[in-house]
Amino acid sequence: MNPVYDKLMKCYESVKEKIDFKPEIALVLGSGLGDYGESIDVVATLDYHDIEGFPVSTVSGHKGRFIFGYVNEVPVVCMQGRVHYYEGYPITDVVLPTRLMKLMGAKVLFLTNAAGGVNYDFSAGDFMMITDHIMNFVPSPLIGENIDELGVRFPDMSDIYKKDLQQVIRETAKNANIKLQEGVYIQLTGPNFETPSEVKMCRILGADAAGMSTAAEAVAANHMGMQVCGISCISNMCSGMQDQPLTHEEVKETTDRVAVQFKELVTASIVNIHKHINK
Ligand code: HPA
Repeated sequence: MNPVYDKLMKCYESVKEKIDFKPEIALVLGSGLGDYGESIDVVATLDYHDIEGFPVSTVSGHKGRFIFGYVNEVPVVCMQGRVHYYEGYPITDVVLPTRLMKLMGAKVLFLTNAAGGVNYDFSAGDFMMITDHIMNFVPSPLIGENIDELGVRFPDMSDIYKKDLQQVIRETAKNANIKLQEGVYIQLTGPNFETPSEVKMCRILGADAAGMSTAAEAVAANHMGMQVCGISCISNMCSGMQDQPLTHEEVKETTDRVAVQFKELVTASIVNIHKHINK
């Protein structure tokens, strides 16, 4: 068997032994946004450590567990802490949890992250709905023998962040009076922040926000036929665009400052996406 598929199925067997819950929406919480877990009516939690063969995250501020439960009646699985490429994992491990959540039954993948603003029209604390991405600076998670059980060899990527889900999120933000920017997310490897010249390059390439996650997960999910949507919290303006040097503390400070609004936007979006896909 394909070793990547083999590992995925081992993790799936391990989860199935411990948890009997079918989520509809899979939610990935970005850096500093992990306390969204408090908004979930929790049915069960599963530490990544307790899943046989699961890649385990080490970054501070990342709790590293799945939360199973309900957001206003909508069954969700939520990743509190994700696996990052910069931690040294192969990119296939980075997307393993995403694939696992699809196997658990999730139809929609809702990605969130903290990202640096590349677009001069943005400000720290803004939310940006992801309309598309650029991920050519990290390897595709689909490299290697294709796993036919998951999807096709040459999958289309022309509509990853589904237009109808975008419209649902757009309307949700409007009704909640929450300002919502929109744009293209670029995934870089990290862990270092960019140089000002690299940020300029990102802007020339067409990116509006830069980060170290998300796009690879979106590709793996799209490959498997999940409907994907995503929101970045612009935690800072990218290097060269603000006076002081960038720190992880700044990222945390901003995400803390906007946490209440973020929770409101995510919860209302989940409720409305649930209504939309079941109508
Ligand atoms: N660059 C890359 N990733 C990030 C940033 C940034 O400025 N802020 C938060 N994640």
